[in-house]
Order: sequence, then structure tokens, then C-alpha cells
Amino acid sequence: MKLGRFIVIEGLEGAGKSTVCGLVATALTQAGISEVLQTREPGGTQLGEQLRLLIQQGLPDEPLQATAELLLLYAARAQLVEQVIKPALARGAWVVGDRHDLSTQAYQGGGRGIAEQVLNSLRDAVLGPFRPDLTLYLDISPAKGLQRVAQRGSFDRMEQESLLFFQRVRARYLALATDDPQIVIVSAEHSRAQIAQQIQQIITTWLSRN
Ligand SMILES: Nc1ncnc2c1ncn2[C@@H]1O[C@H](COP(=O)(O)OP(=O)(O)OP(=O)(O)O)[C@@H](O)[C@H]1O
Ligand SMILES: [Mg+2]
Repeated sequence: MKLGRFIVIEGLEGAGKSTVCGLVATALTQAGISEVLQTREPGGTQLGEQLRLLIQQGLPDEPLQATAELLLLYAARAQLVEQVIKPALARGAWVVGDRHDLSTQAYQGGGRGIAEQVLNSLRDAVLGPFRPDLTLYLDISPAKGLQRVAQRGSFDRMEQESLLFFQRVRARYLALATDDPQIVIVSAEHSRAQIAQQIQQIITTWLSRN
């Protein structure tokens, strides 16, 4: 039995996902929701955090194969969903996720070129019918997103991919978001203040309808 709601924030590197997760959590708390939990993917469990390190850093002398990367991401997701997200939703907590399954559709599908059929069968096997209640996709050009990341520090394994790779990821995000009424596209290139206002408005409107 699910009492809480699962809201996911998606987007490219530097789109502002972590910033927006905090804004959404604050908006939910202010709306009177007593327990709001933030998660991140990959990560959020002991297994997930170890896999996150592996996925971010890679291995010194061996490139990570695309399908191996895919399976590591799903191993982390399986652990997080079963161990943390579902129990939280069952006790009435609301969960705000920094990335979830849409990232895999966009990065491993659009970016790495893994067939949608493969992704869909893995998703069905790992998640069954489990889906977020609302997804905010923060849309930003790869150049702008990576510029923000660069200002923060050095690039991890994924962030070292080419602009072309991230353009494919963005195109897949947009295609999937446009097809799905549960996903709201938010332009992420505005100022922090403008985005904060927009997020507050989207959450307030969504809460009033759900
Ligand atoms: N609207 C904005 N305008 C300018 N800079 C921003 C904006 N939102 C966030 N930032 C800054 O850009 C950087 C990336 O933001 P943030 O960490 O929230 O993005 P992210 O999508 O979580 O990134 P990552 O994919 O690396 O986790 C941070 O340094 C953040 O302070
Ligand atoms: Mg982040």
C-alpha cells in the first residue's frame, strides 16, 4: 500500500537537479507534508553508494562496457527502490529523487545507444509497474550544464563524455518527456531565483490537483 508520493528530478550534468531537489523538499514541507525523504541515484544505500563510486570513477585499466554500466545502475536502483523508496512511501513519507529510471533511458539509451527493447525489459524485470508520480525534467544545453559543473570542480567519468554524447542524451530526454504527461519540462537556463519561483508554482499546482 502506497501512501506517499515519489517525485523525481532529472536532467543533464549541471542542470541544477540537486539544487531543485532541495527546493522541492522545502516546498513539500511547507505544504504540510510531515516526512520528506531525499534520495539520489545511483546511490542512497550501502550497495548503491559503492556502485556510485565505481560508476563515477571507473576502473584504472579497464573501460566499463555499456551493458556492464547498465547492470550496475540497475543493481543500485533495485536496492534503493526495495530498501528505501517503497518502505518510505508505504509509511506515508514523500520521496524526492535526484535522478531515477529516466536517466537510464536517456544516458544508456540515447547516449550509449542501447536498444529500447533491452532497456524496457530490464526496467520491467527490476521495477515492475513502479513509476514516479511526477518527474521534473530540467532542460539545459550540454555546454551550459558542463560549464556549471566545471566551475564547481573536476569532471568525473560520465562528465568527460563528448558534447555529442550529451546532445544525444538531451534529445532522448526531450523525446521521452514530450511523450509522457507525467513528465514536466522545465527550462533550466534561467537564474536560480527564477527557477525557484517556477518550481514552487509547479509543485503548488500539482499538489492542488493530486
Ligand atoms: N539556475 C542556476 N543558475 C546558475 N547556476 C546554478 C543554477 N542552479 C544551480 N546552479 C549551480 O550550478 C552547479 C550545478 O548545480 P547542481 O549541483 O544543482 O546540478 P546537478 O544537476 O545536481 O549537477 P550534477 O549532475 O553534477 O549532480 C552548482 O554549482 C549550482 O550551484
Ligand atoms: Mg547533483
